[in-house]
Amino acid sequence: MNSQIGNPRPRVLSGMRPTGKLHLGHYVGALANWVKLQDQYECFFFIADWHALTTDYADTSRIQQSILEIAIDWLSSGLDPERCTLFVQSRVPHHAELHLLYSMITPLGWLERVPTYKEQRENIKEKDLGTYGFLGYPVLQSSDILIYQASYVPVGEDQVSHVELTREIARRFNQFYNNDGKQVFPEPQALLTPSPKLPGTDGRKMSKSYNNAILLSDPEPVIRQKIKPMVTDPKRVRRTDPGNPNDCPVGTLHKIFSDKQTNEKVYEGCTTAGIGCIECKGWAADSVLKMLAPIQERRVEFEQNPRRAWEILEAGSLKAQKRAEVTMQEARRAMKLAPDFESAMSNRQGG
Ligand code: TRP
Ligand code: SF4
Repeated sequence: MNSQIGNPRPRVLSGMRPTGKLHLGHYVGALANWVKLQDQYECFFFIADWHALTTDYADTSRIQQSILEIAIDWLSSGLDPERCTLFVQSRVPHHAELHLLYSMITPLGWLERVPTYKEQRENIKEKDLGTYGFLGYPVLQSSDILIYQASYVPVGEDQVSHVELTREIARRFNQFYNNDGKQVFPEPQALLTPSPKLPGTDGRKMSKSYNNAILLSDPEPVIRQKIKPMVTDPKRVRRTDPGNPNDCPVGTLHKIFSDKQTNEKVYEGCTTAGIGCIECKGWAADSVLKMLAPIQERRVEFEQNPRRAWEILEAGSLKAQKRAEVTMQEARRAMKLAPDFESAMSNRQGG
């Protein structure tokens, strides 16, 4: 994009851990927003396979498969390798080098105070998270962001504390080191994704671990089958009891995926007991399927030729490596780690 020379777009970076096939919650909570950002910003999106290891180090058997699945989900959703850089974290070792340098200057107290650290240590009892890597999770995340000198980080609410720590690490690095007065790391900002809370089929937050998710790759009959038994407004015990879409997870699906007309029809029918829940769920399924249609259409190509998705990641990783190396050269020079014989000699004579 030559027209961008001299007028660089601000850089955006975000990532996802490879945890298997993506669902509607990933789409409305992140992907739909990423797809929009790729035209306005210079975007880097990556699969955080090293981050997956911080909790799943004991069983790494499915990492490669999960990387491929996410790649296909991303490309189907409309992330376009012509307009953004898609890559795999572990294919860009620069993240690890910067992580190591940051680990030298990051006080332990900062990490112990990160809210996700405390929560996960308490909530996840089945895995031993008393590891060095797990404590360092947000330091690695800071490296992911700052290695691209990114200005914006689109994330959900739960990641804001990590972006805040990133800003603190950038500041601390800049206080200790610079290149002839020039700072190496900008302080990035979180771009909070405006995302409605998407309920799963049981009414709780949609999540793979609750087994209540509708996958982006689910075929039509599966989606209808999953929506049919969804929980509804508990006030509608019988068909003749009126309800309220505002108290019903199916009502929430309508708000997110259905047009205005359908929402009016649902509100009217539900509050007067003029429609049944089965009918209403059929309409919700129609709306979800309509939203997914272009995504599933693009998927066909990648399902037929998964190697193409794989090659896109490899090409993106090479691009990311080039950009990351630019930052690392600045960081190494600022820290006096770039080999410099003249400096070695002059200090020798001076001292
Ligand atoms: N921690 C993020 C999550 O769990 C994933 C992630 C890793 C990330 N590195 C990142 C997100 C850098 C944004 C920027 O969702
Ligand atoms: Fe929910 Fe629709 Fe039933 Fe109302 S009619 S309770 S919105 S499923």
